[in-house]
Amino acid sequence: MSSMLTLALSKGRILEDTLPLLADAGIEPAEDLQKSRKLIFATNLPYVRLIVIRATDVPTYVQLGAADIGVAGKDVLLEHGGAGLYEPLDLQIATCKLMTAGIKGQTAPASRRRVATKFVNLAKSYYAQQGIQVDLIKLYGAMELAPLMGLADEIVDIVDTGNTLRANGLEPRELIADISTRLVVNQASMKIKHQLIHPLIERLQAGVAART
Ligand code: ADP
Ligand code: PRP
Ligand code: MG
Repeated sequence: MSSMLTLALSKGRILEDTLPLLADAGIEPAEDLQKSRKLIFATNLPYVRLIVIRATDVPTYVQLGAADIGVAGKDVLLEHGGAGLYEPLDLQIATCKLMTAGIKGQTAPASRRRVATKFVNLAKSYYAQQGIQVDLIKLYGAMELAPLMGLADEIVDIVDTGNTLRANGLEPRELIADISTRLVVNQASMKIKHQLIHPLIERLQAGVAART
C-alpha cells in the first residue's frame, strides 16, 4: 500500500518521549498505547498507523519494509549495522553514552579480555579498531553483574547518570559513542512514498528544533 505509512515505535523508555514529538508533528494514536495489549494502532491520520515493538526489532522491521519508518536508539542501530536504512533525523531524546566499564580500581588484563555485552557486533568492531583481543559474552540485560560475578573483565553498556555503575562498584572506562534516538526510514519507502514521508520528517524536525 503506497498510500499508507507504518511507523515502528520502540516500547520501553523511548516511547514516552516519542509520543509528544509525534503529536507536535500532527500524529496522535487513536487510543492509549501504554494501556492496550494491541500491537497495531490507528492514528488521527487515516494514512498513518503505528506498531509498538521491542527496540531491538525496530531496525529489522524497517530494513525489510514491514514498516516504512522507525524510531530507535543509535546503540540499537549501530548493533544492527544500518543496512537498508536511511537515518534522516536525530530526535535528541533518550540521550546517553555507550561505554566500556569495569570494577573500580581494577585495570583490564594484558591478555585476552572477556567482555560481556548485549551489543556484540558493535563491541567486536570497537575492540578490533582498538587492536584489543577480546572474547565476547552475549548477555540480554544486567551487564553490570558480569564483572562482579567473575564472568567478564569488562562490559560494554549504556551509561546515563552513572548510578547503575556506582551502585555496583564499577567505573566507566572508554567512551565508544554518544547515543540518542534516531528516525530511520526504509530506503525503498523513501523513494516510493516520498510525498508522504518528506513532509513528516520536516514536521518532526521542526518539533525537535523547537525543543532545543
Ligand atoms: P531495552 O529494554 O532494549 O534495554 P530500553 O527501553 O531500556 O530498551 O532502552 C531503549 C533505548 O533507550 C536504548 O536503545 C538506548 O538508546 C536508550 N537508553 C537505554 N538506557 C538508557 C538510560 N539509562 N538513559 C537514557 N537512555 C537510555
Ligand atoms: C540501562 C543500561 C544501564 C542503565 C544506565 O538499563 O543498560 O544498566 O540503564 O543508566 P544509569 O547510568 O542512569 O544508571 P535499563 O534500566 O534500561 O535496564 P535493562 O535494559 O537491562 O532492562
Ligand atoms: Mg534498557
